[in-house]
Amino acid sequence: MILGVLAILAVSATALAANSTYTNPILPGFHPDPSCIFVPSWNKTYFCASSSFNAFPGIPIHASRDLQNWKLIGNALSRPEMLPALATTNRSTSGIWAPTLRYREEKSKGRFWISTTLVFDDLPKDNVSRWDNFVISTDNPYDSTSWTDPVHFKFGGYDTSLFWEDNGQVYVVGSHEYEVWPGIQLATIDLQNGKTGPWSNPWNGTGALAPEGPHIYKKDGFYYLMLAEGGTGLGHMVTMARSRHGIQGPYEPAPQNPLLTNANTTAFFQTVGHADLFQDARGNWWAVALSTRSGPEFLNYPMGRETVLTPVTWNQGDWPIFTNVSGTENGWELPPQTLVPEGKGPYVDSPDHLTFPPGSPIPEHLVHWRLPTPDTYLVSPPGYYNSLVLRSSVLNLTGYDGYYTGGKGQTFIGRRQTDNLFTYILDVNASSLREEEDEVGVSVFLVQRYHFELGIVLLSSSSSSSYSDSSVSLKPHFRFRGISNTSVPDTVVPFPSFISLDTAITMEIKAFNWTHYFFSAGPRDQRHLMQTYGYARGEQISWGFTGTLVGPYATTNGRNGSANGAFSVSVGNWTYIPQGQVIN
Ligand SMILES: *[C@@H]1O[C@H](CO)[C@@H](O)[C@H](O)[C@H]1NC(C)=O
Ligand SMILES: *[C@@H]1O[C@H](CO)[C@@H](O)[C@H](O)[C@H]1NC(C)=O
Ligand SMILES: *[C@@H]1O[C@H](CO)[C@@H](O)[C@H](O)[C@H]1NC(C)=O
Ligand SMILES: *[C@@H]1O[C@H](CO)[C@@H](O)[C@H](O)[C@H]1NC(C)=O
Ligand SMILES: *[C@@H]1O[C@H](CO)[C@@H](O)[C@H](O)[C@H]1NC(C)=O
Ligand SMILES: *[C@@H]1O[C@H](CO)[C@@H](O)[C@H](O)[C@H]1NC(C)=O
Ligand SMILES: *[C@@H]1O[C@H](CO)[C@@H](O)[C@H](O)[C@H]1NC(C)=O
Ligand SMILES: *[C@@H]1O[C@H](CO)[C@@H](O)[C@H](O)[C@H]1NC(C)=O
Ligand SMILES: *[C@@H]1O[C@H](CO)[C@@H](O)[C@H](O)[C@H]1NC(C)=O
Ligand SMILES: *[C@@H]1O[C@H](CO)[C@@H](O)[C@H](O)[C@H]1NC(C)=O
Ligand SMILES: *[C@@H]1O[C@H](CO)[C@@H](O)[C@H](O)[C@H]1NC(C)=O
Ligand SMILES: *[C@@H]1O[C@H](CO)[C@@H](O)[C@H](O)[C@H]1NC(C)=O
Repeated sequence: MILGVLAILAVSATALAANSTYTNPILPGFHPDPSCIFVPSWNKTYFCASSSFNAFPGIPIHASRDLQNWKLIGNALSRPEMLPALATTNRSTSGIWAPTLRYREEKSKGRFWISTTLVFDDLPKDNVSRWDNFVISTDNPYDSTSWTDPVHFKFGGYDTSLFWEDNGQVYVVGSHEYEVWPGIQLATIDLQNGKTGPWSNPWNGTGALAPEGPHIYKKDGFYYLMLAEGGTGLGHMVTMARSRHGIQGPYEPAPQNPLLTNANTTAFFQTVGHADLFQDARGNWWAVALSTRSGPEFLNYPMGRETVLTPVTWNQGDWPIFTNVSGTENGWELPPQTLVPEGKGPYVDSPDHLTFPPGSPIPEHLVHWRLPTPDTYLVSPPGYYNSLVLRSSVLNLTGYDGYYTGGKGQTFIGRRQTDNLFTYILDVNASSLREEEDEVGVSVFLVQRYHFELGIVLLSSSSSSSYSDSSVSLKPHFRFRGISNTSVPDTVVPFPSFISLDTAITMEIKAFNWTHYFFSAGPRDQRHLMQTYGYARGEQISWGFTGTLVGPYATTNGRNGSANGAFSVSVGNWTYIPQGQVIN
């Protein structure tokens, strides 16, 4: 009897252990268009790349050994010289779109490959200069600097993806909008020089908007061509076709298309699409895709398109069956929890406690909007201790007109918002502000047209009691302002009597619930005197293709005659505290 009970317990324990429960997103925050691979020969590690648009360093690479803990191990785009044109892109939807990450072993030597596109989204779609396609590669993704310079190739489209035939022949597949260049395009490519063979047109998708994000997989003698269709909004979906007779087709669409979507549902995770497929160490299939935690209202999603994981059942000769994406999922047994010892960046869900010790590099997960101007971000230079010194830019976060900067740069450094609820705290030394409109502050920045900030700014005072030096009637103020698609009134408040520019000031941004942020400041050494100067709604910074960043900026707000570097300010004690995810 007793043995029998034990046997039953043992059996049910195995049955339970056979599947796991985990939560989405696996890469919260601005991590769209994921592409992931499993590399057994690299300590059974999973690697993912995601789109970075105008952010630099770009193309973040995350690694995991357990599919749950994801560490930023580098940025494939880390040297400004790799893509000088990223300094001058127009429009916030320009920049790096949809890198595809692949691994290939030849003669027992492994290389990681990325194909992607630098898009100039303001140019007409039929202008081939709009699309700068290229490949880069490395034999060590744990070292950002090891990625090669780009090998450019000609293709009037985007979302390019590499595929290796069994005989070693390499193909590239990409997409272009229907009207101009029909659907999906395929060609051979020489990875050394970017030379492509003639382009063919294997499939146009099921007829929905924007067939894109193509990936090819070979399985059981079939070539499977997986697409994103419907556009990257609420109608987004995953579709597939397959060919029995070689890579060129003909391709037959899956009768049950779309194979994955949350369109026309009330799910909290919407816009599910742009998927990639891989097998884990046990041979089970998984898909990653992008999704927005917006609900079908699709109004509040400041973190933009995030990376989700979902189990897939793919039996021999059959079409893959995807599990619908949700916040809590049950699926294949996950690998045991193991951390990744290599790589310099933090885990994606880590807090920040950054002190910028002398001689340390700028942390791997901090980014700028477009290429940084030289000597603008200095870690504890002589005379400063455990500080990040920012040299001001002429342009503020809006740039010239919310659209472009003409290569002039904007002094800003931020990290991705990765949690619905968080607190960001920064100590600011504003003692060097001198002239009217000199400003330093903290921002929730989506793109140039959508951002909110609390700044310390010198403004001429209408009141007769002028700031210490009687010849200059400039006074420090807290100014809360922002720009969105609805007008946002400025809030301008003179410094309270208990602080001056010589006071160490703490600034704080807090997302205190799913829909609202507040912005506060006060004396660092008397936190109980901190005051709140403004509120922003997540809805006001939910737009486009990217997700919010939080961090400091320094600017002269276009002041006539001012130059970049007109003043320098120091910040420190950079703190980001994750305080909650909303997943349903
Ligand atoms: C595998 O992990 C071991 C121990 O962390 C490390 O020494 C080795 O370099 C790793 N190999 C690869 C290919 O990542
Ligand atoms: C970007 O836009 C500006 C202003 O419209 C224009 O002067 C400039 O030529 C554009 N740059 C590129 C690279 O298209
Ligand atoms: C494409 O755009 C580039 C860059 O703005 C421009 O120089 C070129 O004339 C355009 N070509 C066509 C065919 O419009
Ligand atoms: C894709 O669409 C174009 C334009 O309508 C058409 O010429 C082409 O035959 C289509 N390709 C396929 C594979 O259906
Ligand atoms: C997945 O979602 C679709 C709607 O997009 C629905 O038709 C289908 O029943 C769902 N599947 C499961 C297993 O819940
Ligand atoms: C969602 O509904 C719209 C309107 O009925 C329809 O056009 C679209 O095809 C549907 N999308 C999916 C993926 O079912
Ligand atoms: C385990 O997960 C897979 C993939 O989602 C699913 O097909 C299978 O039914 C699950 N098994 C159990 C016992 O729940
Ligand atoms: C602003 O954007 C939101 C979300 O896209 C939209 O609902 C609203 O109508 C827009 N408002 C204006 C004034 O354009
Ligand atoms: C602010 O920085 C200046 C140097 O620019 C330094 O002299 C001053 O002591 C700092 N203030 C505080 C409160 O640390
Ligand atoms: C968040 O707080 C604001 C201000 O108190 C409130 O108006 C809003 O309804 C709250 N949002 C949620 C989702 O509770
Ligand atoms: C940004 O700077 C411009 C001047 O270059 C100024 O007109 C504008 O008000 C500023 N706005 C914001 C929101 O930063
Ligand atoms: C960081 O905080 C500590 C404690 O308040 C303070 O002594 C130090 O000056 C701060 N560092 C910077 C750069 O503000």
